Amino acid sequence: MITNIGTMQIETEKLIVKNFDIGGVVMLKTKRLSLVPLSKEYSEDLIKLWGDYDVIKYTYSTLMNTQEECLGNLIMWLTLQRDNSGPNKFAIFLNNNFIGIAGFPVIHNDNFKCGFFYQIIREYWNNGYGFEAANALLNYIFEKHPQATINADAVVNNPASIKILAKLGFSQICIEEKGFKNNGMELDIVHFGFKSKK
Ligand SMILES: CC(C)(COP(=O)(O)OP(=O)(O)OC[C@H]1O[C@@H](n2cnc3c(N)ncnc32)[C@H](O)[C@@H]1OP(=O)(O)O)[C@@H](O)C(=O)NCCC(=O)NCCS
Repeated sequence: MITNIGTMQIETEKLIVKNFDIGGVVMLKTKRLSLVPLSKEYSEDLIKLWGDYDVIKYTYSTLMNTQEECLGNLIMWLTLQRDNSGPNKFAIFLNNNFIGIAGFPVIHNDNFKCGFFYQIIREYWNNGYGFEAANALLNYIFEKHPQATINADAVVNNPASIKILAKLGFSQICIEEKGFKNNGMELDIVHFGFKSKK
């Protein structure tokens, strides 16, 4: 039996965010998107992200060539970064189409310190989906963990990511010169933080 055991509604910049906990299955709903916990079921879709250099180049992922590689990486992610307090990585859907992922890997459980990331399939960029998904995630984090501290960073060459963090209200902490080292690049990186007001 499916039971709706809790709903929450927050109005943020004209986006209605509803978080449903349906029989223990979390689903985040925004005006246009649904975010559901990432699982092996979606590994076939991940090649559209992790197999695209333009998507992974400013992240700590490396380019993957096969669905098997994506599945292996996903299993490692889901195993190593398990958090007993609930899902922290989500698949993003637009009208039942997978368009990306977003999440908050837990760094420390004490006082809940976590990271923050989002990746959208390239053909869907520039429609506001990255911001919309990240906003839903941020609301969910503070609903579940009011004491949370969130760390996020973005390479200076990634203005869309920097804009999303700034629009969400993250504070810029510092710019670390050549702080990003991956995919053969050394780039300056902006560190951001978001701390609960509680
Ligand atoms: C970062 C990313 C998620 C943004 O997704 P998106 O759906 O295109 O983002 P949005 O459409 O919500 O745009 C966010 C803002 O960035 C702006 N923007 C988008 N692309 C831009 C670009 N190339 N240059 C400058 N600004 C840009 C948008 O105009 C928007 O600003 P606005 O709200 O003032 O209009 C997407 O580019 C992506 O998946 N990149 C690869 C993965 C990645 O780098 N993730 C971040 C690190 S974890």
